[in-house]
Amino acid sequence: MTAPILAIEDASVDYGAFRAVDGATLRVRPGTITGLIGPNGAGKSTLFNAIAGEKELTAGAIRFQGKRIDDRSPDQVFASGLARTFQIPRPFAEMTVLENLMLAAPSQTGETFWAPILKPAAVRSEDAAVLGKAHEALAFTTLDRVAHEAAGRISGGQQKLLELARVLMSDPAMILLDEPAAGVNPALTEVLIDKIEALNARGMTFLIIEHDMDLVMRHCDPIIAMAAGQVIFEGNSEAALSDPRLLDAYLGDVAHA
Ligand SMILES: Nc1ncnc2c1ncn2[C@@H]1O[C@H](COP(=O)(O)OP(=O)(O)O)[C@@H](O)[C@H]1O
Ligand SMILES: [Mg+2]
Repeated sequence: MTAPILAIEDASVDYGAFRAVDGATLRVRPGTITGLIGPNGAGKSTLFNAIAGEKELTAGAIRFQGKRIDDRSPDQVFASGLARTFQIPRPFAEMTVLENLMLAAPSQTGETFWAPILKPAAVRSEDAAVLGKAHEALAFTTLDRVAHEAAGRISGGQQKLLELARVLMSDPAMILLDEPAAGVNPALTEVLIDKIEALNARGMTFLIIEHDMDLVMRHCDPIIAMAAGQVIFEGNSEAALSDPRLLDAYLGDVAHA
């Protein structure tokens, strides 16, 4: 078996006294589109927060391309080629779509990811390479027509595409997508899926949290399921459809809804 690109080893994450991720172990193989499913509150987004360096582990380890990343800051994780999108897009609403992408470029000068925000002048004088890359990301995500609109004014679906464009600015080896299709109309969802498949064909690895089961079944392999902070299943779509643990987890969710 090939070495995993991402390995979560017995990870736990707490919010105060509440354990949101409880000894989760999972591995993502390079070149896959791996699906992460599970009922609301299972700990999926919290796990993403931990992988991305935004939330500290209480126990366990996270390795990306063989190296420990659980002690790194979000900008260090992002710069190392592991990028995440947010379940609720968080663009700088007053800035244009293009400016949002310029800000997302990891600094060429070794400064921190956030330095341009503290130094707007540096953004205005940004070099042509970053601008070229931003335009490439815009064209790829079909956002070129709204490049100069305020990011807060474009549709929710376009904001999801902007999330993808934003992470592409770092040339990631792997992207974590948190519910990319949620709230996105079917036409734009198809665009998003096409882009994910195209990037995957070029070798990019994806770990995708998604509630749209049809999307997960058609595009993700393997599928990993979490419930109550733990990994309860891993397998292909066929196995997922017939696994009683998954049925139980989702029925539990409905029962508590
Ligand atoms: N910032 C937070 N503070 C306290 N509890 C949280 C916080 N974020 C999430 N939780 C709780 O942690 C659990 C896992 O949440 P989350 O990771 O968002 O689940 P999922 O993404 O699978 O729906 C839930 O019970 C949720 O209420
Ligand atoms: Mg979530």
